[in-house]
Amino acid sequence: MEVTLLKQHAAEKAVEFVESGMIVGLGHGTTAIWATRKIAELLKSKQLINILAVPCSAQTEAEARQLGIPLTTLESHPAIDLTIDGADEVAPNFNVIKGGGGALLREKIVAQATKREIIVVDESKLSPVIGTKWAVPVEVIPFGYVSQKVYLEGLGAKVSIRQKADGTTFYTDQGNIILDSNFGAISDPTGLAEQLKGRTGIVEHGLFIRLVSDVIVAAASGTRQLQKQP
Ligand code: A5P
Repeated sequence: MEVTLLKQHAAEKAVEFVESGMIVGLGHGTTAIWATRKIAELLKSKQLINILAVPCSAQTEAEARQLGIPLTTLESHPAIDLTIDGADEVAPNFNVIKGGGGALLREKIVAQATKREIIVVDESKLSPVIGTKWAVPVEVIPFGYVSQKVYLEGLGAKVSIRQKADGTTFYTDQGNIILDSNFGAISDPTGLAEQLKGRTGIVEHGLFIRLVSDVIVAAASGTRQLQKQP
């Protein structure tokens, strides 16, 4: 089955957990967008009512607006009932890497304000040990970014500066740069997260630790909800 279809299946399964009256976080990326579209469809047909949504990126916000989903902000609604978002790599203990689409900072702000964070992926994103399949995106402010690159290399990462398809530097919604930092399999994600958070100039990183409540994975054989392993 085509991967786009798997992404759609996983996202639409997660939408089954959305209830009328909820404040909902709308994730960013090619998987989460299917949830946004499905929510819009259910609002239109009145199968869902009184939903207010907080988008995780400017791109998701634009799409949600276009689809007519009523939006709110964390300033007006600092507690979110449920968020549906994608991920780049998912470990059995539900620690994940996010930020392949560059929206990791807003995604993490929304995730930490969310009671139930549902991650939706196709099965290619599953990994035995976090870091095996995907580099950790590290968002840094442009001032002094090369010194952050050197710092990350000192921690053992192979680092590349995120670029757009046209070869120019990618800037996040906040005007920051992303350093994709490949650590290989990460044996101590909590320790690494602390080292990253302790460094001035690093704004945020794509290791989402203990933030995820549910993982829904779509495979050619069907869509399933994973059980969290210790
Ligand atoms: C966006 O910044 C990311 O965290 C995405 O959720 C992640 O990269 C997964 O993206 P896709 O659903 O497009 O694979």
